Amino acid sequence: MKNSALKDFHKKHLKERIRLVADFANLSQGDVDVLEGRRNLSLETAESMVENFVTKIEIPMGIATNFLINGKDYLIPMAIEEPSVIAACSYAAKIARQSGGFTCYASDPLMIGEIQIIDIPNPDYARITLMKNREKLLEMANEKSKSLSQMKAGAKDLYITGYHDDQDVLVLNLLVDVRDAMGANIVNTMCEYIAPAVEEISGGKVNLRILSNLSDRRMVHCSATFKTDLIGGKEVSRRIVKAYSFAKNDIHRAATHNKGIMNGIDAVLIATLNDWRAVEAGAHSYASMGGYGPLTRFALDSKGDVIGSISIPMAVGTVGGSMRSSPVAMVSMKILGVGSSSEFAQVLASVGLAQNFAAVRALANEGIQHGHMKLHSRNIAIAAGAKGELVDIISSRMVKEKNISPSRAVELLEQYLHNNSDRKE
Ligand code: MEV
Repeated sequence: MKNSALKDFHKKHLKERIRLVADFANLSQGDVDVLEGRRNLSLETAESMVENFVTKIEIPMGIATNFLINGKDYLIPMAIEEPSVIAACSYAAKIARQSGGFTCYASDPLMIGEIQIIDIPNPDYARITLMKNREKLLEMANEKSKSLSQMKAGAKDLYITGYHDDQDVLVLNLLVDVRDAMGANIVNTMCEYIAPAVEEISGGKVNLRILSNLSDRRMVHCSATFKTDLIGGKEVSRRIVKAYSFAKNDIHRAATHNKGIMNGIDAVLIATLNDWRAVEAGAHSYASMGGYGPLTRFALDSKGDVIGSISIPMAVGTVGGSMRSSPVAMVSMKILGVGSSSEFAQVLASVGLAQNFAAVRALANEGIQHGHMKLHSRNIAIAAGAKGELVDIISSRMVKEKNISPSRAVELLEQYLHNNSDRKE
């Protein structure tokens, strides 16, 4: 039985951490070579991915531990430049684990394609004729993906919406079950393919043919309980619920609250080279549907424990996309060990909830800077010029002095180098 509660993982040496991850995920020597930096995205492949290519950019990737989701253990690869995100996520997962972990549900992976029809001579009539041709249009769309059709997926339904202020315009919304793909390509292909038939049937002209990133037919819901005794007691729990109501009632807070959620989700999407902009667009537009608000909710149960929940659209794939081009992204997927896009969506929602819980708990208690600056102190020491063991020496000295700043790091480094050169003379 796999166990993601890897004790003192953060204290281990890098090689040992990689070994533990490799054991957990049954990684091959080739995968370990990737993690240890001996094999990565080649310049040749990278050049074929974007235009005017010049180089690649590195982002550190770590592993969040302790995740138990629907009874299964996961280690979660997270690529992010911000310190304390991975630690916070692992902390919240550890607390949730004590109450059975995260319980999630993902809907069918239905994406929406939008076909905008303009200059329609008789929109009311066109709406009816388009719906009468529903079967024919769906059949046509499905010609574009034999593999989805074989899986009884593909174009499933369509419906018409219209503008109130633009009388000669209708929108045909195509619902496509994209299974394990993110789905943008197939949805766009289908929309473009049926567009001429849509023009003929409606008497109008097709303008835009593109998927919607508000994938609110591809939702994931997730809940976890955080025991009050493990998070600082009843007052902290009460304050967490107050923090939620702050986000619910104040759009400026809601934006930051949701940013914290996306800190976690984006980091996993980047580690797996999924389209994080699509998920961001979906998350924020969904958060705006009844007036912009938080994507998570927090409430107390009868014992005073905190129940956290998240509902979020999640357009992600486990096949297709750019993932295959990147050896690290492929190893990340192996570490995650998800068998479908909906399992992946459930992992992502759990990470978002964990991240948000950890941030809100810290904010409602000791404040975020304490933990954050402690971890950031290493970056500050490096930026000041510290190398090797000096990074730890200077960062822990700043933490001890409660004075974590670039100027103090430079002072300490100068002192250290000066004292050491004295000793040598
Ligand atoms: C920082 O990257 C994220 C937080 O601001 C999120 C929040 O305030 O909930 C800490």
